Amino acid sequence: MNQQMWLNLATQENAAAIKKHGIRIFGPAAGAQACGETGPGRMLEPVEILSLTSELFSTGTLAGLHVLVTAGPTWEAIDPVRGITNRSSGRMGYAVAEAAAEAGAKVTLVSGPTALGDPQRVTTIRVSSALEMFDSVHAHIEGIDIFIGVAAVSDYRPASAASQKIKKHADTLSLELVKNPDILKSVAALSSAPFTVGFAAETENLETHAREKLIEKHIDLVAMNDVSATDIGLDTEDNRLLLIDRHGKSELPQQHKSQLARALIQHVAEKYHAKRTTQDSRRARR
Ligand code: CTP
Repeated sequence: MNQQMWLNLATQENAAAIKKHGIRIFGPAAGAQACGETGPGRMLEPVEILSLTSELFSTGTLAGLHVLVTAGPTWEAIDPVRGITNRSSGRMGYAVAEAAAEAGAKVTLVSGPTALGDPQRVTTIRVSSALEMFDSVHAHIEGIDIFIGVAAVSDYRPASAASQKIKKHADTLSLELVKNPDILKSVAALSSAPFTVGFAAETENLETHAREKLIEKHIDLVAMNDVSATDIGLDTEDNRLLLIDRHGKSELPQQHKSQLARALIQHVAEKYHAKRTTQDSRRARR
C-alpha cells in the first residue's frame, strides 16, 4: 500500500479496530515504494512472514525464560573515521534472537554495527566496540537463563584511538593492539552463570578448535561454523553448524540462517532443560 494510504486516518482506525478484535497484523514494512515514495506500506519479506506465522504455532520450548544474544561484528576505532572490524553481517545472531522469541522467550539482543533492522519482539541494544558490548552484556545479565554469543567480537583493539584523523605523512605506520576481554568466557565464569552457548568460527582443524573453546571457556555448548567456505558462514544467507557439548555432537545441515536458528534453538532448549533436570535431581538427593 502507498504510504499516504497506510497513514491515512481511516486506514489507521480500521487497522486499530481489526487489532481490537484480536486479529494479528504483520507489518507493514517501511522503505522505497513502487510509486517512488518512501514510507510504511511495503509487504514484509517472506522470511519475516514465515517467522511471524510460525510463532503463532510455537510450542513455546523457551516460554518463561530470558535469553541474551550477542550478534554482529564489533568496531574498534583507530581514529574518528577508521577502524578494525570483520565480515560478520549479524544475520545469524539476529535469526537466533528471533527464533528464541518465537520459542516463547523474552529476548535481549546486544548487537554490534549491522545494516539490519531491529528484529521483531526482541529488545535490541546497539553497541560499537567490544568493550561496549562487554559492558552492555554485563549490565543486562542478571536474570538471564540462556546466553548465546554469536557476535564476531574483535579479539584486539588499538591501544589508543587517535582523536583526529591520522594524516598520511609517514611512509609506514604501526598499530599497537591490545587484547579485548572475552565476553562469553566472562559470562560463563559468573557465580550464577546462565546456560552458555558459544559460536566457534574456524577455518582449519574445525572440531578440535571448537572442543578447545568448549573446555577453555567453560561453556555448555559450542556451535561450530566453518568460515573457510565462501557459500556459507560469514556474510551469507546460508550456514551449517556442528553442535558440540560434553556428551557428544550433532550436525545441523546447510540451510537458510532463519531455519538453522530455529533448529539451534530447539537443540539449546533440550540441552537447557536436561541440565536443569539433572541439577534439580542432584539437589533433591542432597
Ligand atoms: N567471543 C566473545 N568475546 C571475545 C571473543 C569471542 O564473547 N572477545 C565469543 C564469540 O561470540 C563466540 C566465541 O567467543 O561465541 C568464539 O569466538 P571465536 O572468534 O570463534 O573465537 P575466539 O575465542 O576469539 O578465539 P580465536 O579467534 O583464537 O579462534
